Amino acid sequence: MPENSYEKTLAALGLTQPDQVAPLFAQLLAQATVDLEAAQSADAFERFRVQWLGRKAGILTLVGDNWLKPASAALKRAVGQELNKFKAQLETQMEARRAAVESGVEETVRAKDRVDLSLPGVVRPIGSRHLIRQVFQEIEDIFVSIGFSVVEGPEIETPYYNFEALNIPEFHPVREDMDTFYVQVATESGLKTPPGSLLLRTHTSPVQIRTMEKQKPPVRVIVPGKVYRRDNPDATHSFMFHQIEGLAVDTDITFCDFTGTIEYFVKQYFGPSVKTRFRPSYFPFTEPSVEFDVSCIFCGGSGVAANSATCGKCKGSCWIELFGAGMVDPAVYGFVNYDAKKLSGFAFGMGMDRLAMLKYGIDDIQVFFQNDVRFLKQFP
Ligand code: FA5
Repeated sequence: MPENSYEKTLAALGLTQPDQVAPLFAQLLAQATVDLEAAQSADAFERFRVQWLGRKAGILTLVGDNWLKPASAALKRAVGQELNKFKAQLETQMEARRAAVESGVEETVRAKDRVDLSLPGVVRPIGSRHLIRQVFQEIEDIFVSIGFSVVEGPEIETPYYNFEALNIPEFHPVREDMDTFYVQVATESGLKTPPGSLLLRTHTSPVQIRTMEKQKPPVRVIVPGKVYRRDNPDATHSFMFHQIEGLAVDTDITFCDFTGTIEYFVKQYFGPSVKTRFRPSYFPFTEPSVEFDVSCIFCGGSGVAANSATCGKCKGSCWIELFGAGMVDPAVYGFVNYDAKKLSGFAFGMGMDRLAMLKYGIDDIQVFFQNDVRFLKQFP
């Protein structure tokens, strides 16, 4: 049979006898079978359907137009019978193919959705505590071991607790807007609190007052927490940082108890080889007041860096300032109804972030707050 025989009439194909019709349809069916076998996907099946059954130019339409309609009277009956047989056979074959294609599509979808239980599971990295939290814990453990307990206080404070009750009078420079974040918050009635009536605490010292208000002496507490100041960020300053306050008040606490406690803490935290010193200082709520220094852990207290240059961390001074402290100023007892004649005590306020930097050799405070996993991972 010539290719595309359905484009020619039977006369043009040279068919004259009825018995020549059946072989012609058999060849056509063979071609349809080959095409159908090749139609493996839903798209290919649809292309096959249009090619063979399409109304305008489908092969079956051409067979009707070219073989059946113009057939001679002698051939017409045979062509009609064979065409019907052909249609029935093609329909049966197409049904089978359609079912195969559809189940193939389903199978593909199922295969896509199938859960492969042999694959390794999704590994979710487990987080760890931030270095600042770890250092808080370390310091708390040291003080708890010598009889202190841990208390907390609010980060939004009133000027009374943050300043006045700590003997910091109205005109003191630290109360300036330049140093302190004052906040206004919405109250239940929907109105904002008056300007200047609330602030973000600038130190953990207000919790000294809150503790003494609640508790009769003896008091031995430490107060870990966040504090806020309008300081410009640099390698050692942040506008939000962490402090640990300490307060001990009893009937017979001396400056010696104070130095002994602090030196014990520093040796536990930094190790026995570190040297310490007190320098006179001033805080309105302690008298006398001191600054506490440790020998520079970066240059071993020599003031000289490994490359023989001046140590950049202590700037050649051999010492690094750790915190402010002192004996509680008797004026403070007046704000909490403690008897200043019978009681004495000491207080200190350590910059936690700087303690962590010194111990772990971190030279920029900002890395604590940048959440860079490469940094965090170093302290699992
Ligand atoms: C105080 O805050 C006093 N309340 C400490 C105190 C408590 C004295 C009890 C006496 C009795 P000072 O402003 O020096 O003191 O801050 C304490 C420590 O906080 C500093 O030594 C320093 O380590 C740290 N610090 C201060 N400002 C910043 C800042 N912007 N960023 C990071 N750390 C800071």
